[in-house]
Amino acid sequence: MSVRIYRQVHELQGFSLKNCPAMEAPSGVLLCPPDFYQVLAVKNPFMSGHVGAVDRAKARRQWEALREAFDAAGCPVSLIEPAPGLEDMVFCANQSLAGTRPDGEKVALLSAMRHPSRRREVASFERWYEEHGYRVVKLKGVGHETFEGSGDAVWHPGKRLIWGGYGFRSDAGVFAQVARAFHAPVILLKLVNARFYHLDTCFCPLNSEAVLIHPAAFDAASLELILKIFPIVITAGEPEAVSKMACNAVVVGARTAILQKGATSVANRMLALGLGVSEVDTSEFIKSGGSVYCLKQFLF
Ligand code: ARG
Repeated sequence: MSVRIYRQVHELQGFSLKNCPAMEAPSGVLLCPPDFYQVLAVKNPFMSGHVGAVDRAKARRQWEALREAFDAAGCPVSLIEPAPGLEDMVFCANQSLAGTRPDGEKVALLSAMRHPSRRREVASFERWYEEHGYRVVKLKGVGHETFEGSGDAVWHPGKRLIWGGYGFRSDAGVFAQVARAFHAPVILLKLVNARFYHLDTCFCPLNSEAVLIHPAAFDAASLELILKIFPIVITAGEPEAVSKMACNAVVVGARTAILQKGATSVANRMLALGLGVSEVDTSEFIKSGGSVYCLKQFLF
């Protein structure tokens, strides 16, 4: 089983998606109720101007509607208990990456968060995974390097292949351990625009052949990699990629895209690809730099 890391298109010689082993679809999602959600310090460009400005009651209503949207799309929801003082814990994408190994074993790789204020979130997830039959894997010897879980490590739909993003919250050096943890190759993409600080803000696989991206978030070598692997690449323009976080969408059950409402051109392109579109309002969470994808962890 190859656990190579690919950074340049010429390295992909001999690699093909067809030869990539199949990977099971997620069995559901993990969400964290927004009891303690707030914007307290500016950690990404979305947060500036929003410190202390979250409407908590509205955030709760939006989160409940998101939970219902997963349910309605046939995607079972599990919950992790929110912890006081951890205002970003609601963004379940970041503390870990869950997946399976080729033998079917469920694995959760724990993150090394960039911001000290988020590091305490990880222990709650470690406990949750231990109680739910996952082998928990920790990064070793990473020093100052960081890794922010499925925010920067995205499974290719249906394939044993991980797309890794680095440059702001995760370091390129950690992905060898990501590949080893899951026995899956990683294609590394460099993020070059601070607004798109996690891979999940600018890269959203829609199915095994199609991906939604915001091109200005990547360097040229990364765009080449994306174009080499995905026969269909649709793009989100700046307004929808920023104000609607349109690339922070999630496809569940291989047929329903859940995304921020008002990302009209992206939604139309999804419909044209034959996906169902379920629109939700995550505006209170976009104030913190997160939308649908960030608010969940795929479980297996
Ligand atoms: N305020 C959070 C942070 O900056 C938002 C995280 C959003 N998560 C994501 N996967 N993009 O850390």
